[in-house]
Amino acid sequence: MNQQPDWPDQVALRAVTARLAAAPPLVFADECDQLRRRLAAVARGEAFLLQGGDCAETFETTGTEAVRGKLRTLLQMAVILTYAAAVPVVKIGRMAGQYAKPRSSPVEQRDGLTLPSYRGDAVNGREFTAEARRPDPERLLRMYESSATTLNLVRALTGGGFADLRQVHDWNRGFVTGSPAGERYERLADEIEQALDFMQACGVDTRELSTADFFVGHEGLLLEYEEALTRSTESGREYATSAHFLWIGERTRALDGEHVAYFSRISNPIGVKLGPTADPDTVLALLDKLDPAREPGRLTFVVRAGADRVRDVLPTLVEKVASEGARVCWVCDPMHGNTFTAPSGHKTRRFDAVLDEVVGFTEVHHALGTHPGGIHVELTGDDVTECIGGGYEVRAEDLRHRYETACDPRLNHGQSLDLAFRLAELYRATRPA
Ligand code: TRP
Ligand code: PEP
Ligand code: MN
Repeated sequence: MNQQPDWPDQVALRAVTARLAAAPPLVFADECDQLRRRLAAVARGEAFLLQGGDCAETFETTGTEAVRGKLRTLLQMAVILTYAAAVPVVKIGRMAGQYAKPRSSPVEQRDGLTLPSYRGDAVNGREFTAEARRPDPERLLRMYESSATTLNLVRALTGGGFADLRQVHDWNRGFVTGSPAGERYERLADEIEQALDFMQACGVDTRELSTADFFVGHEGLLLEYEEALTRSTESGREYATSAHFLWIGERTRALDGEHVAYFSRISNPIGVKLGPTADPDTVLALLDKLDPAREPGRLTFVVRAGADRVRDVLPTLVEKVASEGARVCWVCDPMHGNTFTAPSGHKTRRFDAVLDEVVGFTEVHHALGTHPGGIHVELTGDDVTECIGGGYEVRAEDLRHRYETACDPRLNHGQSLDLAFRLAELYRATRPA
């Protein structure tokens, strides 16, 4: 099967999936339906989607501080976009389940030794030893438990005082002060506080200001895991209950593959990644298989063409889909088409390329009169040095200082805020009146 681990112990695997099949769902059908309705607003051009988090979560980084840090960064980005672009922002964390990775090669070689590639904490360990790299189905149970722990934190933090708009200043605390994005954020937070004072003086008091709507999603890669957590409602509809939103990766979107077959069965809102080689006929066939009823909010196309290709490849795709009368969400992943290896050997991305892909994506949509529905990014709340450039000016020589990702390079806190500000400006400047 495409990109599935070669589990050495099938008996152990069956025992694990049986336990997962009997476990409580992590999310409920009604929540998924609610997200689908929110995404329908994105498809109509009335809202914006912000999706972000680690390339690969690890079991070690599910601690309270790591989750709170990512959430803070996402809330800051969301508030920048909501306030500066004046549109509702649908927020989906790439969190609480992002533990499995597709790999371009099934094996990795180092110093003459060949071992299975690291496929994410859901499958094996990152350490380069035969022991660590052996796929272990017990890890699927840890994936479920870590997802549950993370989701619990996410629910508590977004539903309690932490996400209260009165905390806009607090979210910036502890981050490097004096950074251009951080200072700009402080000014925006002042304005928001004034607006809140004004509303309070007017007698406005609503729950909407003190809690954030927040959903979680991951790549639905490991079908044994997803299948075991699939539940039917009384009306007979099936839902993946591992997350609200699942997407199919660039490497597993074969029309006749198992992933497309599984995703066509479930009723969650879903995404499909589209790389630079995605041709219009394939995209239309994906639309027919995954959204035959043309249900607004059901399908999100996440385009990751690369900054140098997006302006060429996107127009035809958008036009063809629009001519089918489909209301899909178009989202820009400006990360995965812009990865390269620095002279130091680090896998990295340039902030300018990331920004340029977002600009190209937005230009194409505005030229066609369609809606640039959102962004899908890899980020962390920490001040890592994994991507080059941005307000902090991480240089290629700096990459080694704090390069901590378990897989792809992530935007750090300042780079993430910077991107949100640029996006809000772009959106305001080029949006047709
Ligand atoms: N409830 C609204 C929303 O989720 C407004 C809101 C409250 C908000 N807290 C937030 C928006 C934090 C962004 C970030 O959009
Ligand atoms: C990812 O999102 O980490 C990923 C592997 O992306 P893609 O499927 O677009 O290559
Ligand atoms: Mn990635």
